[in-house]
Amino acid sequence: MTAANTTLGGSFAAAYDALMWPFERVAIGAWRRRLAARAGGRVLEIGAGTGSQLRWYGAGLEVVALEPDPEMAARARRRAAGAAASVRIVEGSAEALPFPDGSFDTAVATFCLCTVQDPAAALAELRRVLVPGGRLLAIEHVHLSWQPGRRLQSLAAPAWASLAGGCRLDRDTLAAIREAGFDLLEERPHVLGWIVELAASGR
Ligand SMILES: C[S@@+](CC[C@H](N)C(=O)[O-])C[C@H]1O[C@@H](n2cnc3c(N)ncnc32)[C@H](O)[C@@H]1O
Repeated sequence: MTAANTTLGGSFAAAYDALMWPFERVAIGAWRRRLAARAGGRVLEIGAGTGSQLRWYGAGLEVVALEPDPEMAARARRRAAGAAASVRIVEGSAEALPFPDGSFDTAVATFCLCTVQDPAAALAELRRVLVPGGRLLAIEHVHLSWQPGRRLQSLAAPAWASLAGGCRLDRDTLAAIREAGFDLLEERPHVLGWIVELAASGR
């Protein structure tokens, strides 16, 4: 077991749903529902984790959910079985997507771009596999623009990463999305700008 898939000495996959449950109930579930309502056609979700997003996709969608951690993927597979959409779980990394160019209409990332090792490579891959003008829909936490929040995130980032499966609190994900060549169409900030729901278009 590596630092990237451990939390407090245990399995990150086993702890994840229990830790997230209250937040899913209070807020994140509503954001997931809104994201899923905007997804269309062939959908690729990267870093699907235990499959928390899967229940929100509507019938008629074809979803490929990519996840590198086998324990997470096994949990997502169980959730996929009860989903309204047609869901296929694929084990793999966002930095090297095993799909041809232009094979998806929608790409989804929820709390994932904070954790991938190389966000620029992952975003370049998402642009490659999206059809021209395809949509990236995301819910991600970002590096705050205001001090002292930003400084606090920077200080806490190394310890947090070792507890939370490699998640970086100090990632400037919005800038990375723009730098990858996506046009940000909509940003909806939550929790003082810490978490952002966004829609972007691949050019
Ligand atoms: C914080 S979890 C979020 C899971 C899920 N998307 C959600 O909203 O609950 C981050 C996920 O990203 C996955 N991940 C880590 N590195 C990755 C990579 N290079 N490519 C794709 N997924 C990755 C982790 O295994 C983990 O399941």
